[in-house]
Amino acid sequence: MATIRLGDEAPNFSAQTTEGEINFHEWLGDSWGVLFSHPADYTPVCTTELGATSKYKKEFEKRNVKVLALSVDGLESHRGWIVDINETQNTTVNFPIIADEDRKVSTLYDMIHPNADSKLTVRSVFVIGPDKKVKLTITYPASTGRNFDELLRVIDSLQLTAYSKVATPVNWQYGEDCVILPAVSNDEANELFSKGFEEIRPYLRITPQPNLN
Ligand code: BEZ
Repeated sequence: MATIRLGDEAPNFSAQTTEGEINFHEWLGDSWGVLFSHPADYTPVCTTELGATSKYKKEFEKRNVKVLALSVDGLESHRGWIVDINETQNTTVNFPIIADEDRKVSTLYDMIHPNADSKLTVRSVFVIGPDKKVKLTITYPASTGRNFDELLRVIDSLQLTAYSKVATPVNWQYGEDCVILPAVSNDEANELFSKGFEEIRPYLRITPQPNLN
């Protein structure tokens, strides 16, 4: 198991999931992907996270993102737990959950941090681009539920960088001004950003979010 760093190819794997066996790269196709781990089935924080993920389905689809969850329990356990998630979170789980009983995927993605817990996964998140490269990693402890609004915010930022050559400044929220990537010259910026830009410093150039009318 090697450390997975930003820019690395996301390791491929085959795994049993609640929606059948998948080959990760084939399943991703041309989509962006979110692979995220959960410490265990039938645990309270995980239950709320998976319920929330189901409710965000449209938001992920809008961004061409496929979501894949993982926990180290088996398929039977996952299936029973999904009934509970649906009931308690008032939703329908609508994405696959890997049954990683042999910890193959957890080990591949370094999701078990032995000094936190020797057997269970921490709350890892990997965002993967259509080029299969890792764009973002986040690690939360088991006891802290992740912020899925933040996850969408980062995906929006990653996609703005990938498709519109801008970065997003501190505390940026969708619709707010962006900063032009340092690699873009002023001449190129004039061509790219029809709404213009403000040059506060040669390295600090602000433009309205480019993909909005
Ligand atoms: C949970 O998912 O609720 C959880 C799991 C492990 C430790 C603490 C909370």
